[in-house]
Amino acid sequence: MLGWHIKNNMLRIVEILDVKIENPLVKTLSFRDEICRLAEPGQFVMVWVPGVDEIPLSISFTRPDGSSSVTVANVGEATKALTGLRVGDLVGVRGPFGSGFKVTGGKALIIGGGTGMAPLMMLITRLVKERVETTVIEGAENSGKLIFLDELKDLSKNCGVKVFFITEDGSYGVKGLATDLAENLLHREKFDVIYTCGPEKMIRKVYEMAKEHSIDLQASLERYMRCAVGICGSCTIGKYRVCVDGPVFDMAKLREVEKYLGAFKYNERGERIPV
Ligand SMILES: Cc1cc2nc3c(=O)[nH]c(=O)nc-3n(C[C@H](O)[C@H](O)[C@H](O)COP(=O)(O)OP(=O)(O)OC[C@H]3O[C@@H](n4cnc5c(N)ncnc54)[C@H](O)[C@@H]3O)c2cc1C
Ligand code: FES
Repeated sequence: MLGWHIKNNMLRIVEILDVKIENPLVKTLSFRDEICRLAEPGQFVMVWVPGVDEIPLSISFTRPDGSSSVTVANVGEATKALTGLRVGDLVGVRGPFGSGFKVTGGKALIIGGGTGMAPLMMLITRLVKERVETTVIEGAENSGKLIFLDELKDLSKNCGVKVFFITEDGSYGVKGLATDLAENLLHREKFDVIYTCGPEKMIRKVYEMAKEHSIDLQASLERYMRCAVGICGSCTIGKYRVCVDGPVFDMAKLREVEKYLGAFKYNERGERIPV
C-alpha cells in the first residue's frame, strides 16, 4: 500500500475544544476535523504534540456536531503533555488509520480493560444504533481507573445495553478480572461475537475463551507505531503490520499470530520484549 498517498495521512492542526476528566490519569480531548468525524469504530489517529512526540490514539467518540475525541491515559512523555492541554491549545492529527470493528449483528459481548474501552465506546454506540443486543464488561484495577461510567450507565438506562463493572480490588462493581466475569457469562448465555481491547494478556485470555466456546472474536491490538501507514515496519506482529492490517484483528488473523499474542512485541528500538 502506498501509504504516503492516502489523503487522510496529511497532518492537520486542530484546536482542543473540550477537555473531560475521566479519572485521575485519563482525559478525553475533543476537537473538530472533517476527516476524523467519518472514522469507523476501532480506527486510530496519530496525534502530534509539537516539540514532544507523535503517538497513536483510538478515536473514542464522533458526534453529530462534527467533533471527535481521543481518550488518553497519562503514561509517559507524550501522554503527559496531552493530558496537560487546555481548551484552545493546538495539536496535529493524521488519520484515521487502520481497520475498524465490523458489526456482524446477533448478540454481542464487549470486554474492555482500562483505556482499552476507548475504541470500544464508539463501537458500542454503533451497535446500539444498529439494534444489536449488547452486553458490556468493563474491568479495571480499581474504581479510580474505570472510564466512561456516566456514558455506560446512560446506555444501560436508556438503550437496554447490559453493563457490568468489575475491579480487581472490588472497589467498584464485582471483584475480580473482566475475563472471570466473561467466563461466567459465556457459560450462561450464547453470544455470536466478542469484541475486546485492553491489556494484551487479557486479550489472550479472551482469545482462548472464544476458541473454547467457538465464538467469533474481534480484538484491537497495540504495537509500537511510527508511520501508521505500513511503511516503517515497527508495528509488526507475525506477518502483519498492526497499523494497516489492524489494529482490529478477526479470529482468522488472530489464529495466524497466536504465538505472538500476549507473548512478545517490539519496542521503539526494534528489540523483542515480553508483552
Ligand atoms: C492503535 C493504538 C491505539 C491506541 N489507543 C490509545 C488510546 O485510545 N488511549 C491511550 O491512552 N493510549 C492508546 N494507545 C497507547 C498509546 O499510544 C501509548 O500509551 C503512548 O504512545 C505512550 O506515549 P508516551 O510518550 O506518553 O509514553 P512512553 O513513555 O513513550 O511509552 C509508554 C508506553 O507506550 C508505548 N508507546 C510509546 N510510543 C508509542 C507509539 N508510537 N506507538 C505505540 N506505543 C507506544 C511504549 O512502548 C511504552 O510501552 C494506543 C496505541 C495503539 C498502537
Ligand atoms: S507503524 Fe510503520 S508500518 Fe506500522
